[in-house]
Parts: sequence; C-alpha cells; structure tokens
Amino acid sequence: MSLILALESSCDDTSAAIIKNGTVLSNVTATQTIHEKYGGVVPEVASRKHQINIIPVVKAALDKANVDKTELTAIAVTKGPGLLGSLIVGVSFAKSLSLALEIPLIEVNHMKAHILAHFAEDPKPKFPFLCLTVSGGHTQIVKVTAPLEMTILGTTIDDAAGEAFDKSGKIMGLKYPAGPEMDKLAQKGKPIFQFAEPKVKGLNFSFSGLKTSILYFLKAQLKDNPNFIDENLNDICASVQYQIVYILIKKLKQAASETGINQIAIAGGVSANSSLRTALEKAGKECGWQTYIPAFQYCTDNAGMIGVAAEFSYKEKDFSSLDLVPEARLKI
Ligand code: KG4
Ligand code: ZN
Repeated sequence: MSLILALESSCDDTSAAIIKNGTVLSNVTATQTIHEKYGGVVPEVASRKHQINIIPVVKAALDKANVDKTELTAIAVTKGPGLLGSLIVGVSFAKSLSLALEIPLIEVNHMKAHILAHFAEDPKPKFPFLCLTVSGGHTQIVKVTAPLEMTILGTTIDDAAGEAFDKSGKIMGLKYPAGPEMDKLAQKGKPIFQFAEPKVKGLNFSFSGLKTSILYFLKAQLKDNPNFIDENLNDICASVQYQIVYILIKKLKQAASETGINQIAIAGGVSANSSLRTALEKAGKECGWQTYIPAFQYCTDNAGMIGVAAEFSYKEKDFSSLDLVPEARLKI
C-alpha cells in the first residue's frame, strides 16, 4: 500500500495532494494572485508566499483525504524545473518531513509530472504516446515510451506557448496570467486578424515573432483608432488564440506522421485552453488518433500530478537521499 503526500511549489502555486495506490484523494492548491499587479511572477514574492501557504495547504490536503501524517508511506516533491527560491521551499519542507516521519523522499520532474497526470484518471494513454506539453515555461513534443522514459522531439527556441498568451494579453492590458482570460474573450470573438506564421525547422516551435507581430499590428491600428483594442478585444483574442493553436496542432500532426504514433496527449497549463482541446479532438478524428486531454484540475500546476508521477518511482523503490537539491533547469 502506498500513501504519498505530494508537494508542488515550482512557480506561483503552492499545492499539496494525497495519493493512495495511485489514486488522488485530495489535491489542494493556493494560487498566488499577488503577481497579477506586477504583470508576471516575481520570484522573491513567490518564495515568500510559498513559505506562508505550505503548512495550511498540506493540512488541508491531509484533512480532505481524511489522512493523518503518521499514516504516510512517502513524501514526493518537485525537484525542478522552476524558480529556485520557490522550489527550495517545497524541497526543504519535504526533506524535513521525510526525516521527521522516517519515510522515503521521492523527487519528481515537474515536466514529466505534467505528462504523467494522464495516469490520474481513465482513459489512460498506451505506450508509446506523444504528448504536447504546453505551459508558461515550456512547449515540447515528447515521445513517452514508458512511465519514466521520455524523449523530447521538439521544443520552443524562444517563448513558450503560455508566454505567447500571457505576453500578448499584457500588450492588450489583460492581467497576468492572461491565458485563461484570453480563452474566455476569444469565445465571444472571431479570428479575423492574421499574424505572421513562424518558419521553424523540424518539430521545434517559435512564438516570439508572433508577439512582435501583434505588437506592430496593434500599434498601427491604434494610430488610426485609439479605441481599437477596446472595440475589438474579443476578435483580437480569438485571432491570437487561433494562431497559437494552429502552430501547435500543425507540429503535432508532423510529429505523429514522422513517428507513426497515433496515441496523442496534451498536458500543461495551456492544455486547459478550450480552443486547443477542440482542435485536438478535431485533428484526432481527421488523422485517426486516440486523443487524451487531462481533466482541468490536472492541467495547470498541481500536486496531484506530482503524486501520480511519484507512484511510478515508489513502485520501483526509486527514492532520493536527504541531500536532494532543487534544479531550476532540470531536463526531462
Ligand atoms: O503549467 P502551468 O500552470 O505553469 C507552468 O508550469 O508554467 O501553466 C501556466 C500557463 C500560463 O501561461 C497561463 O496563461 C496558461 O498556462 N493557461 C492558459 C489557460 N489556462 C492556463 N492559456 C490559455 N488558455 C487557458 N485556458
Ligand atoms: Zn507546470
């Protein structure tokens, strides 16, 4: 029997979850809204907030699962990638608890956990599968051959897809993170404006040109009409979203055709995007894929996915020592 307390503190969400034999019993997240006013995550503020949030969040996760800390069989924690000051809070807390309760410590790669979140609920993808992992810091197409065996086939050469949403939203005056708000506004608009498509070789992505193209487009429009953004906000959001989703799905189709794999998943914060979810299902029907879209609670950063990933290491008795140190740039 495994009863794991999982912790996630890689960016601006403090999250704790209880996972029993691979099933998520509770998944509690405190989101730090303080960063909205700065237009992005302020690392020092994020780590201070994690310090404040971590004990209440762990208590809430234990209570919700009706579990006492003395029943736990392991502690899992995000080792990276992420903001170092934020990661240190989770890792130090996990090490202390592992030492105090005399139970094993399990380190988890945040990006692998986004992918393994698919194993929290049915239907689960079959190996090998491809996963488009799209978050605020990453955009990757990953070939997953076994739970802990993954290869990156393509990645962004500049901004991540989530950054493309957040930075374009910021240009339009939306609060950070702009992705969820742009998704809502886009549903009321039409993609009538066109932006340049990046030319990137292979399965890699580029999104920084899109941001620049939006900036120049808006500057030109605002010269003639100072109210252009307010009057066209829904259509601008729909157009930006259309272009981001188009780029993602195009590369995913290329990856599926090159590898011959038809089990296709999406993961990460941007996988919560309604247009991407619809576009994946449509592409799946067209190309004969079996598609996997995570439940909303497993899309953005959460400790449930850390626990589900940790369960695979737990079964292999792949434990970490108390010398564990976080790594901001940890690779898959
Ligand atoms: O995976 P995540 O929670 O954190 C990172 O590891 O980065 O992803 C956060 C990113 C942000 O850029 C946010 O704007 C984006 O996911 N996001 C969305 C939506 N929900 C979250 N982007 C577009 N549409 C959404 N519905
Ligand atoms: Zn993430």
